[in-house]
Amino acid sequence: VKTLIKIGFKVSIENGYGSSLGIDDSLFSENGAEINSGNEVAQNSNLVVKISGKDLNNFDYKENTIILCGFFDKNNEDILQIKKNKKLEIFGLNYLPRITRAQAMDVLSSQSNLAGYKAVIDTAYEFNKALPMMMTAAGTITPAKYFIVGAGVAGLQAIATAKRLGAVVSATDVRQASKEQVESLGGKFIFVESDENLETEGGYAKEVTEDYKKKQEDLIRETVKNQDVIITTALIPGKKAPLIINEEMVLSRRPVSVICELATSQGGNVAFSERDKVIEKSGIKIIGYSTSASRTAYSASWLLAKNIINFLSLLVDKESVSIKIDYEDERIKWVRV
Ligand code: NAI
Repeated sequence: VKTLIKIGFKVSIENGYGSSLGIDDSLFSENGAEINSGNEVAQNSNLVVKISGKDLNNFDYKENTIILCGFFDKNNEDILQIKKNKKLEIFGLNYLPRITRAQAMDVLSSQSNLAGYKAVIDTAYEFNKALPMMMTAAGTITPAKYFIVGAGVAGLQAIATAKRLGAVVSATDVRQASKEQVESLGGKFIFVESDENLETEGGYAKEVTEDYKKKQEDLIRETVKNQDVIITTALIPGKKAPLIINEEMVLSRRPVSVICELATSQGGNVAFSERDKVIEKSGIKIIGYSTSASRTAYSASWLLAKNIINFLSLLVDKESVSIKIDYEDERIKWVRV
Protein backbone atom coordinates (compact mmCIF):
# COMPACT_ATOMS: atom_id res chain seq x y z
CA VAL A 1 0.00 0.00 0.00
CA LYS A 2 2.70 2.44 1.06
CA THR A 3 4.74 1.93 -2.11
CA LEU A 4 1.78 2.34 -4.48
CA ILE A 5 0.39 5.37 -2.64
CA LYS A 6 3.83 6.97 -2.75
CA ILE A 7 3.91 6.64 -6.55
CA GLY A 8 0.49 8.31 -6.68
CA PHE A 9 -1.94 5.41 -7.21
CA LYS A 10 -5.25 5.04 -5.41
CA VAL A 11 -5.37 1.75 -3.48
CA SER A 12 -8.39 -0.03 -2.06
CA ILE A 13 -8.42 -3.21 0.01
CA GLU A 14 -11.12 -5.72 0.82
CA ASN A 15 -12.31 -5.29 4.39
CA GLY A 16 -10.81 -7.75 6.87
CA TYR A 17 -8.04 -8.64 4.40
CA GLY A 18 -5.21 -8.85 6.96
CA SER A 19 -7.28 -10.01 9.92
CA SER A 20 -5.94 -13.58 9.97
CA LEU A 21 -2.44 -12.12 10.42
CA GLY A 22 -3.60 -9.73 13.13
CA ILE A 23 -3.40 -6.75 10.74
CA ASP A 24 -6.37 -4.52 11.34
CA ASP A 25 -8.12 -2.57 8.54
CA SER A 26 -7.17 0.62 10.37
CA LEU A 27 -3.48 -0.03 9.67
CA PHE A 28 -4.20 -0.12 5.92
CA SER A 29 -6.33 3.03 6.07
CA GLU A 30 -3.75 4.88 8.17
CA ASN A 31 -1.34 4.20 5.31
CA GLY A 32 -3.69 5.63 2.71
CA ALA A 33 -5.82 2.69 1.48
CA GLU A 34 -9.58 2.78 1.16
CA ILE A 35 -11.39 -0.15 2.76
CA ASN A 36 -14.19 -1.62 0.63
CA SER A 37 -16.11 -4.84 0.11
CA GLY A 38 -14.47 -7.42 -2.18
CA ASN A 39 -16.95 -6.68 -4.96
CA GLU A 40 -16.40 -2.93 -4.72
CA VAL A 41 -12.66 -3.50 -5.05
CA ALA A 42 -13.24 -5.77 -8.07
CA GLN A 43 -15.63 -3.30 -9.71
CA ASN A 44 -13.63 -0.13 -9.19
CA SER A 45 -10.03 -1.18 -9.87
CA ASN A 46 -8.00 -1.20 -13.09
CA LEU A 47 -5.56 -3.65 -11.57
CA VAL A 48 -6.35 -6.23 -8.89
CA VAL A 49 -3.74 -8.15 -6.87
CA LYS A 50 -4.78 -11.55 -5.54
CA ILE A 51 -2.94 -14.40 -3.86
CA SER A 52 -4.60 -17.15 -5.86
CA GLY A 53 -6.46 -17.25 -9.17
CA LYS A 54 -8.63 -20.13 -7.96
CA ASP A 55 -11.57 -18.04 -6.79
CA LEU A 56 -11.80 -15.59 -9.66
CA ASN A 57 -15.53 -16.28 -9.87
CA ASN A 58 -16.15 -14.92 -6.34
CA PHE A 59 -16.21 -11.34 -7.58
CA ASP A 60 -17.66 -9.56 -10.53
CA TYR A 61 -14.67 -7.96 -12.25
CA LYS A 62 -15.11 -5.27 -14.91
CA GLU A 63 -14.15 -6.22 -18.43
CA ASN A 64 -10.44 -5.72 -19.23
CA THR A 65 -9.34 -5.65 -15.58
CA ILE A 66 -5.70 -6.62 -15.09
CA ILE A 67 -5.39 -9.32 -12.43
CA LEU A 68 -2.07 -10.17 -10.86
CA CYS A 69 -2.19 -13.52 -9.05
CA GLY A 70 0.56 -14.88 -6.86
CA PHE A 71 -0.49 -18.37 -7.96
CA PHE A 72 -2.51 -19.34 -11.03
CA ASP A 73 -3.35 -22.72 -12.54
CA LYS A 74 -3.29 -22.60 -16.34
CA ASN A 75 -5.08 -25.96 -16.45
CA ASN A 76 -8.21 -24.75 -14.68
CA GLU A 77 -10.67 -24.61 -17.60
CA ASP A 78 -13.49 -22.94 -15.60
CA ILE A 79 -11.27 -20.05 -14.60
CA LEU A 80 -9.91 -19.71 -18.14
CA GLN A 81 -13.51 -19.41 -19.36
CA ILE A 82 -14.16 -16.53 -16.92
CA LYS A 83 -11.00 -14.87 -18.15
CA LYS A 84 -12.23 -15.17 -21.73
CA ASN A 85 -15.77 -13.95 -21.04
CA LYS A 86 -14.58 -10.90 -19.12
CA LYS A 87 -11.56 -10.24 -21.37
CA LEU A 88 -9.39 -10.19 -18.24
CA GLU A 89 -5.63 -9.74 -18.52
CA ILE A 90 -4.15 -12.24 -16.06
CA PHE A 91 -0.60 -12.65 -14.82
CA GLY A 92 0.39 -15.68 -12.69
CA LEU A 93 3.67 -15.08 -10.85
CA ASN A 94 4.25 -18.81 -10.39
CA TYR A 95 5.14 -18.94 -14.11
CA LEU A 96 8.17 -16.63 -13.85
CA PRO A 97 11.35 -17.97 -15.46
CA ARG A 98 14.17 -19.01 -13.10
CA ILE A 99 16.50 -16.21 -14.17
CA THR A 100 18.44 -13.71 -12.11
CA ARG A 101 16.29 -10.76 -13.25
CA ALA A 102 13.19 -12.52 -11.92
CA GLN A 103 14.56 -13.61 -8.56
CA ALA A 104 13.16 -10.71 -6.53
CA MET A 105 9.64 -11.47 -7.76
CA ASP A 106 9.84 -15.27 -7.60
CA VAL A 107 6.92 -16.40 -5.44
CA LEU A 108 7.81 -20.08 -5.70
CA SER A 109 11.24 -19.39 -4.22
CA SER A 110 10.08 -17.15 -1.41
CA GLN A 111 7.37 -19.61 -0.34
CA SER A 112 9.44 -22.81 -0.83
CA ASN A 113 12.19 -21.34 1.29
CA LEU A 114 9.77 -20.93 4.20
CA ALA A 115 8.26 -24.37 3.58
CA GLY A 116 11.74 -25.93 3.88
CA TYR A 117 12.37 -24.10 7.13
CA LYS A 118 8.97 -25.04 8.58
CA ALA A 119 9.41 -28.71 7.60
CA VAL A 120 12.45 -28.94 9.88
CA ILE A 121 10.59 -27.22 12.74
CA ASP A 122 7.61 -29.56 12.25
CA THR A 123 9.80 -32.66 12.29
CA ALA A 124 11.74 -31.44 15.34
CA TYR A 125 8.40 -31.01 17.11
CA GLU A 126 7.20 -34.53 16.27
CA PHE A 127 10.59 -36.16 16.90
CA ASN A 128 11.19 -37.73 20.29
CA LYS A 129 14.93 -37.08 20.40
CA ALA A 130 16.98 -33.89 20.71
CA LEU A 131 18.55 -32.67 17.46
CA PRO A 132 22.04 -31.48 18.49
CA MET A 133 24.79 -33.48 20.08
CA MET A 134 24.77 -32.80 23.82
CA MET A 135 27.63 -33.73 26.08
CA THR A 136 26.30 -33.81 29.61
CA ALA A 137 27.49 -35.17 32.95
CA ALA A 138 24.96 -37.97 32.52
CA GLY A 139 26.30 -38.94 29.14
CA THR A 140 26.37 -37.90 25.50
CA ILE A 141 23.37 -37.57 23.23
CA THR A 142 24.24 -38.18 19.59
CA PRO A 143 22.97 -35.71 16.95
CA ALA A 144 19.87 -36.50 14.92
CA LYS A 145 20.40 -37.61 11.33
CA TYR A 146 18.33 -35.81 8.70
CA PHE A 147 18.00 -36.95 5.10
CA ILE A 148 16.64 -34.43 2.58
CA VAL A 149 15.30 -35.64 -0.78
CA GLY A 150 15.31 -32.86 -3.38
CA ALA A 151 17.83 -30.06 -2.98
CA GLY A 152 15.99 -27.18 -4.65
CA VAL A 153 14.92 -24.06 -2.79
CA ALA A 154 12.93 -25.87 -0.05
CA GLY A 155 15.48 -28.66 0.33
CA LEU A 156 18.43 -26.28 0.65
CA GLN A 157 16.64 -24.26 3.34
CA ALA A 158 15.77 -27.51 5.14
CA ILE A 159 19.46 -28.49 5.08
CA ALA A 160 20.52 -25.08 6.43
CA THR A 161 17.87 -25.13 9.17
CA ALA A 162 18.58 -28.70 10.29
CA LYS A 163 22.31 -27.92 10.38
CA ARG A 164 21.66 -24.82 12.50
CA LEU A 165 19.72 -26.99 14.93
CA GLY A 166 22.68 -29.33 15.21
CA ALA A 167 21.55 -32.28 13.08
CA VAL A 168 23.84 -34.27 10.80
CA VAL A 169 22.41 -33.80 7.31
CA SER A 170 22.65 -35.65 4.02
CA ALA A 171 20.71 -34.97 0.85
CA THR A 172 20.07 -36.23 -2.64
CA ASP A 173 18.83 -34.79 -5.93
CA VAL A 174 18.73 -35.86 -9.55
CA ARG A 175 20.37 -32.61 -10.66
CA GLN A 176 24.15 -32.79 -10.40
CA ALA A 177 24.33 -29.01 -9.98
CA SER A 178 22.85 -29.34 -6.50
CA LYS A 179 25.91 -31.27 -5.19
CA GLU A 180 27.99 -28.14 -4.68
CA GLN A 181 25.08 -26.29 -3.04
CA VAL A 182 24.40 -29.14 -0.59
CA GLU A 183 28.07 -29.41 0.31
CA SER A 184 28.46 -25.66 0.76
CA LEU A 185 25.78 -25.86 3.48
CA GLY A 186 27.65 -28.64 5.25
CA GLY A 187 25.45 -31.49 3.99
CA LYS A 188 26.67 -34.80 2.58
CA PHE A 189 25.53 -35.33 -1.01
CA ILE A 190 24.30 -38.78 -2.00
CA PHE A 191 23.87 -39.33 -5.69
CA VAL A 192 23.12 -41.96 -8.33
CA GLU A 193 26.04 -42.07 -10.77
CA SER A 194 24.50 -41.69 -14.23
CA ASP A 195 25.24 -40.30 -17.68
CA GLU A 196 21.71 -38.98 -18.00
CA ASN A 197 21.27 -35.21 -17.90
CA LEU A 198 18.30 -34.79 -15.60
CA GLU A 199 18.21 -31.01 -15.58
CA THR A 200 16.15 -28.90 -18.02
CA GLU A 201 17.50 -25.66 -19.47
CA GLY A 202 15.28 -23.81 -17.00
CA GLY A 203 17.09 -25.49 -14.06
CA TYR A 204 14.24 -27.87 -13.17
CA ALA A 205 14.38 -31.66 -12.82
CA LYS A 206 13.30 -34.01 -15.60
CA GLU A 207 11.41 -37.22 -15.04
CA VAL A 208 13.90 -40.07 -14.48
CA THR A 209 14.13 -43.25 -16.57
CA GLU A 210 13.15 -46.67 -15.17
CA ASP A 211 16.82 -47.65 -14.93
CA TYR A 212 17.69 -44.53 -12.92
CA LYS A 213 14.62 -45.03 -10.75
CA LYS A 214 15.73 -48.52 -9.83
CA LYS A 215 19.26 -47.34 -8.93
CA GLN A 216 17.84 -44.45 -6.91
CA GLU A 217 15.50 -46.81 -5.07
CA ASP A 218 18.42 -49.03 -4.04
CA LEU A 219 20.45 -46.03 -2.91
CA ILE A 220 17.61 -44.57 -0.87
CA ARG A 221 16.65 -47.93 0.67
CA GLU A 222 20.22 -48.26 1.99
CA THR A 223 20.47 -44.61 3.05
CA VAL A 224 17.24 -44.41 5.06
CA LYS A 225 18.34 -47.34 7.22
CA ASN A 226 20.60 -44.99 9.14
CA GLN A 227 18.42 -41.89 9.32
CA ASP A 228 16.17 -40.46 12.00
CA VAL A 229 14.19 -37.97 9.96
CA ILE A 230 13.42 -37.68 6.24
CA ILE A 231 12.16 -34.55 4.50
CA THR A 232 11.09 -34.90 0.86
CA THR A 233 10.67 -31.96 -1.51
CA ALA A 234 11.01 -33.61 -4.95
CA LEU A 235 8.88 -31.99 -7.64
CA ILE A 236 8.75 -31.97 -11.42
CA PRO A 237 6.90 -28.93 -12.81
CA GLY A 238 3.54 -29.82 -14.37
CA LYS A 239 3.89 -33.55 -13.56
CA LYS A 240 2.91 -35.83 -10.70
CA ALA A 241 5.56 -35.81 -7.95
CA PRO A 242 7.81 -38.91 -8.03
CA LEU A 243 7.18 -41.54 -5.35
CA ILE A 244 10.54 -41.78 -3.56
CA ILE A 245 9.88 -43.37 -0.17
CA ASN A 246 7.76 -46.40 -1.06
CA GLU A 247 5.60 -48.60 1.17
CA GLU A 248 8.37 -51.10 1.77
CA MET A 249 10.73 -48.35 2.97
CA VAL A 250 8.12 -46.93 5.35
CA LEU A 251 7.07 -50.33 6.67
CA SER A 252 10.62 -51.59 7.11
CA ARG A 253 10.52 -49.67 10.39
CA ARG A 254 14.09 -48.57 10.18
CA PRO A 255 15.29 -46.11 12.84
CA VAL A 256 13.52 -43.34 10.92
CA SER A 257 10.78 -42.00 13.11
CA VAL A 258 9.50 -38.91 11.35
CA ILE A 259 8.96 -38.23 7.66
CA CYS A 260 7.80 -34.85 6.38
CA GLU A 261 6.82 -34.44 2.81
CA LEU A 262 6.20 -31.20 0.98
CA ALA A 263 4.83 -32.70 -2.22
CA THR A 264 1.37 -33.87 -1.13
CA SER A 265 -0.33 -31.24 -3.32
CA GLN A 266 1.23 -32.93 -6.38
CA GLY A 267 0.55 -36.53 -5.45
CA GLY A 268 3.28 -37.12 -2.88
CA ASN A 269 6.85 -38.47 -2.55
CA VAL A 270 5.99 -40.75 0.36
CA ALA A 271 3.71 -43.80 0.51
CA PHE A 272 0.80 -43.48 2.98
CA SER A 273 1.19 -39.70 3.40
CA GLU A 274 -2.09 -37.80 3.57
CA ARG A 275 -2.56 -34.25 2.44
CA ASP A 276 -2.70 -31.76 5.35
CA LYS A 277 -2.51 -34.48 7.99
CA VAL A 278 0.04 -35.93 10.39
CA ILE A 279 -0.53 -39.68 10.41
CA GLU A 280 1.20 -42.58 12.08
CA LYS A 281 2.10 -45.73 10.17
CA SER A 282 3.93 -48.57 11.86
CA GLY A 283 5.14 -46.15 14.54
CA ILE A 284 6.47 -43.66 12.01
CA LYS A 285 4.94 -40.21 11.92
CA ILE A 286 4.30 -38.89 8.42
CA ILE A 287 3.66 -35.16 8.09
CA GLY A 288 1.87 -34.10 4.90
CA TYR A 289 1.09 -30.37 5.10
CA SER A 290 0.45 -29.15 1.56
CA THR A 291 0.80 -25.44 2.31
CA SER A 292 3.72 -25.40 4.70
CA ALA A 293 4.64 -21.80 3.93
CA SER A 294 1.24 -20.53 5.04
CA ARG A 295 1.97 -22.03 8.44
CA THR A 296 4.52 -19.23 8.78
CA ALA A 297 1.88 -16.89 7.41
CA TYR A 298 3.29 -13.56 8.55
CA SER A 299 6.70 -14.19 6.97
CA ALA A 300 5.09 -15.75 3.89
CA SER A 301 2.91 -12.68 3.45
CA TRP A 302 5.81 -10.30 3.97
CA LEU A 303 7.90 -11.95 1.25
CA LEU A 304 4.93 -12.33 -1.10
CA ALA A 305 4.23 -8.60 -0.75
CA LYS A 306 7.83 -7.87 -1.75
CA ASN A 307 7.58 -10.27 -4.73
CA ILE A 308 4.36 -8.62 -5.88
CA ILE A 309 5.56 -5.05 -5.54
CA ASN A 310 8.74 -5.94 -7.45
CA PHE A 311 6.66 -7.37 -10.31
CA LEU A 312 4.22 -4.45 -10.19
CA SER A 313 7.12 -2.09 -10.79
CA LEU A 314 7.31 -3.64 -14.29
CA LEU A 315 3.67 -2.73 -14.97
CA VAL A 316 3.60 0.87 -13.84
CA ASP A 317 4.95 4.07 -15.22
CA LYS A 318 5.91 6.19 -12.24
CA GLU A 319 6.15 9.43 -14.24
CA SER A 320 2.58 9.37 -15.53
CA VAL A 321 1.20 7.28 -12.61
CA SER A 322 -0.37 4.85 -15.06
CA ILE A 323 -0.21 1.22 -16.08
CA LYS A 324 2.21 0.59 -18.92
CA ILE A 325 3.03 -2.98 -19.88
CA ASP A 326 6.08 -3.94 -21.89
CA TYR A 327 4.87 -7.17 -23.48
CA GLU A 328 8.35 -7.81 -24.86
CA ASP A 329 9.89 -8.16 -21.38
CA GLU A 330 10.51 -11.90 -20.99
CA ARG A 331 9.29 -11.90 -17.38
CA ILE A 332 5.95 -10.50 -18.52
CA LYS A 333 5.78 -12.92 -21.46
CA TRP A 334 6.21 -15.94 -19.14
CA VAL A 335 3.62 -14.97 -16.55
CA ARG A 336 0.93 -13.74 -18.95
CA VAL A 337 -1.84 -16.35 -18.96
P1 NAI B 1 11.23 -27.89 -7.51
O1 NAI B 1 10.39 -27.36 -6.39
O2 NAI B 1 10.63 -28.02 -8.86
O3 NAI B 1 11.80 -29.36 -7.09
C1 NAI B 1 12.47 -29.53 -5.86
C2 NAI B 1 13.72 -30.36 -6.06
O4 NAI B 1 13.37 -31.74 -6.28
C3 NAI B 1 14.58 -29.95 -7.25
O5 NAI B 1 15.89 -29.66 -6.80
C4 NAI B 1 14.54 -31.17 -8.16
O6 NAI B 1 15.75 -31.34 -8.89
C5 NAI B 1 14.32 -32.28 -7.16
N1 NAI B 1 13.82 -33.53 -7.72
C6 NAI B 1 12.88 -33.75 -8.69
N2 NAI B 1 12.71 -35.05 -8.92
C7 NAI B 1 13.53 -35.73 -8.08
C8 NAI B 1 13.78 -37.10 -7.83
N3 NAI B 1 13.17 -38.07 -8.52
N4 NAI B 1 14.70 -37.43 -6.88
C9 NAI B 1 15.35 -36.47 -6.18
N5 NAI B 1 15.13 -35.14 -6.37
C10 NAI B 1 14.24 -34.77 -7.31
O7 NAI B 1 12.58 -27.07 -7.63
P2 NAI B 1 12.91 -25.58 -7.15
O8 NAI B 1 13.16 -25.57 -5.69
O9 NAI B 1 11.88 -24.67 -7.66
O10 NAI B 1 14.31 -25.31 -7.87
C11 NAI B 1 14.51 -25.69 -9.22
C12 NAI B 1 15.76 -25.04 -9.75
O11 NAI B 1 15.57 -23.65 -9.97
C13 NAI B 1 16.97 -25.14 -8.85
O12 NAI B 1 18.08 -25.34 -9.67
C14 NAI B 1 17.04 -23.79 -8.19
O13 NAI B 1 18.35 -23.49 -7.74
C15 NAI B 1 16.64 -22.94 -9.37
N6 NAI B 1 16.10 -21.63 -8.99
C16 NAI B 1 16.52 -20.51 -9.68
C17 NAI B 1 15.99 -19.28 -9.40
C18 NAI B 1 16.41 -18.07 -10.16
O14 NAI B 1 17.51 -18.05 -10.68
N7 NAI B 1 15.52 -17.07 -10.31
C19 NAI B 1 14.95 -19.11 -8.37
C20 NAI B 1 14.59 -20.34 -7.72
C21 NAI B 1 15.13 -21.54 -8.04
